Amino acid sequence: MGTKVKTAVKVGSLELANPVLAASGTFGYGREFAKYLDLNRLGGVVTKGLSLEPRDGNPPPRIVETAAGMLNAIGLANVGAEVFLEEKLPFLAALDCKVVVNLYAEGIDQFAGLAERLRGAEGIDALEINVSCPNVKGGGVAFGVDPISVAAVTRAVRENSDLPVWVKLTPNVTDPVPIALAAQKAGAEALSLINTIMGMAIDARRRTPRLANVMGGLSGPAIKPVGLRMVHLVSRAVDIPVVGLGGIMTGEDAAEYLLAGATAVQVGTASFGDPSSCQRVADELAQFCAQEGVADVNELVGALKT
Ligand SMILES: Cc1cc2nc3c(=O)[nH]c(=O)nc-3n(C[C@H](O)[C@H](O)[C@H](O)COP(=O)(O)O)c2cc1C
Repeated sequence: MGTKVKTAVKVGSLELANPVLAASGTFGYGREFAKYLDLNRLGGVVTKGLSLEPRDGNPPPRIVETAAGMLNAIGLANVGAEVFLEEKLPFLAALDCKVVVNLYAEGIDQFAGLAERLRGAEGIDALEINVSCPNVKGGGVAFGVDPISVAAVTRAVRENSDLPVWVKLTPNVTDPVPIALAAQKAGAEALSLINTIMGMAIDARRRTPRLANVMGGLSGPAIKPVGLRMVHLVSRAVDIPVVGLGGIMTGEDAAEYLLAGATAVQVGTASFGDPSSCQRVADELAQFCAQEGVADVNELVGALKT
């Protein structure tokens, strides 16, 4: 048989054994998925959005299926920094794959405090800032729609951490490029995109919204074309690596994101239908490379012919 495909990639200073990470909020704290796949064979795990204090999140129903996707309004339910460090991180720290902690906060000071709380914790390889959080002091509009706010949050986390900082961009903007450039200038080592697209679902017979929160974030295959476009646009505009996500269900979907310019990818909603999806996507991506005569997965990055 042919020689083995090289799958290792570098996202900034982080070396991943392969380009596939589990996306935040769809993979719990990793352990929940240990019986479905070999976590050591993933490129990395991005943990559920973590806040300083525990959060219960929104009332149910918090998830509904839509055509080719799903809507969620979980409301960032999570265990909080204390419990994360004591009960969740030790398991993750023992894995071979990289551990990226996704951060949620409602103000610059809270982001700074959270980064400081995690400082020095054994087993965290990078921080990923979820800028889709509401800026409570700034009137509740998400940080992620404003380049100045994104730069401020990125700087606050950088100044209070020694870890690489990834900034996860929202697609709910007219043009992601100025926001990506602002994050880069403020010291982001990588950009993840995209987060979910705002939407809603209605039960016409009951005349009610299907989510208790009325609105939620759309994810899954429905959003892949949006994610590909944004990765294509942003990766051409910045000098730092891009981590692509949105609707990746197969290895070939992952290859599409790499061609669009992503150095690594994350798999989210796919894990709900098939909890072994992350490993399967990694395996399928290697198979895709072998079939296409690609010896090193890095050859695909940005190799789109336009
Ligand atoms: C149930 C659920 C919870 C999520 N929670 C988070 C979160 O805590 N932080 C975050 O940055 N993104 C969160 N996301 C967004 C995903 O990480 C991902 O960006 C998005 O779902 C698009 O990828 P996908 O189509 O592969 O799911 C969540 C998505 C879902 C479906």
